Amino acid sequence: MNLRDDFPIFKHRPELTYFDNAATAQRPQSVLDAEQKFYTTYNSNIHRGPNFLAEEATIQYEDARRKVADFVGARQKHEIIFTKNATEAINLVARTFGETLQAQDVILLSKMEHHSNIVPWLQLAERKDLEIKWMGISTDWRVRLDPALFDKRVKLVAVTGMSNVLGTITDLKPIIKAAHAVGAKVLVDASQLAVHEPISVRDLDVDFLVLTGHKLYGPTGIGALYGKEELLNPLPPFMDGGDMISAVFMDRFIPAGLPQKFEAGTPNIAGAIGFGAAVDYMAKLGFKKIQKMENELTSTLLTKLTKLDYIKIVGPETLDHRGSVVSFTMQGVHPHDVADGLSSKGICIRAGFHCAQPLMDHLKMSGTARMSLSFYNTKEEIDKAMGVLEEIYSYFTK
Ligand SMILES: Cc1ncc(COP(=O)(O)O)c(C=O)c1O
Repeated sequence: MNLRDDFPIFKHRPELTYFDNAATAQRPQSVLDAEQKFYTTYNSNIHRGPNFLAEEATIQYEDARRKVADFVGARQKHEIIFTKNATEAINLVARTFGETLQAQDVILLSKMEHHSNIVPWLQLAERKDLEIKWMGISTDWRVRLDPALFDKRVKLVAVTGMSNVLGTITDLKPIIKAAHAVGAKVLVDASQLAVHEPISVRDLDVDFLVLTGHKLYGPTGIGALYGKEELLNPLPPFMDGGDMISAVFMDRFIPAGLPQKFEAGTPNIAGAIGFGAAVDYMAKLGFKKIQKMENELTSTLLTKLTKLDYIKIVGPETLDHRGSVVSFTMQGVHPHDVADGLSSKGICIRAGFHCAQPLMDHLKMSGTARMSLSFYNTKEEIDKAMGVLEEIYSYFTK
């Protein structure tokens, strides 16, 4: 069976060519079924009611946590905190671990971070009088490890595992080693990386790692933070209310342990269960197969784009250290016009600065067009897009 058949949107929209997977992926039927099954057969609140339905919902929700923990190779399932997305997971770390930092401490970011992994740190730096320093970009479009930046003042390195603009995959291990050597902790934004490469938080020895469900073929409104147990345990709660406490008195409260401490209020139960189903889907497919299919498509796309002399790829032109996110510019044509032209022929791509304005400033660019591929895309779709790109160029320049 064709993998595309797993994704009902392509049945409902046979004309659709979807190359905006880095923004959000499509959902397989198994994810939709898992959410529907929750709502139609065991919908109940979790962790509370001593009744069979609540117990069933709790078991499924906690099972989803275990699946996500296995997906990233976490030692303990309570090292996974469900959040609403990667953005919330980063904010959680900034508002808890971040508050333990002292004036003049340094946070190291890279110039290719998504705004989600910049703005929480800018805000924290302002609140706590910290300094933000920036890792540059190497000639092969990856985060550059500059040893001079790593000194005892650095307390946190927050870095993307894969650029949502350039498509490059970060060489994380040396960065994590350099950070640990000066006593700093590391947060990896795996929002894009986790879609294309297997992750082992234990092998990386990373301290915090964030995921977002909707890019991983799961539902929107669900994401996860991985944190080492010994780091999460002493941190204060992120939000306060029900479910995150073990006892409340008129004058004080005692927070619950992990992971409840960080999951105040009724969580996105269906979303978490859907996330578990998405992770199951990916595990069943396997990264070997995913990478083989995506590499073939990416290589085809890169080869075809390189042949067009009015297209400039912004990122590596080969498969080295990259995933299936390909940014480019078209000479004399605004990226939004490129996206509009493709959209008028049923092809969805993204254009703009991709929530990465510091990167665009660094590259002295105002934006790019971005085609991001998934294993369910086809070479025929790439051919179709190439034809439309030629039409767009002719229309605007001739
Ligand atoms: C690298 C990266 N980090 C973080 C995010 C934020 O994800 P979310 O909006 O789901 O929190 C994105 C989304 O585009 C991303 O590409």
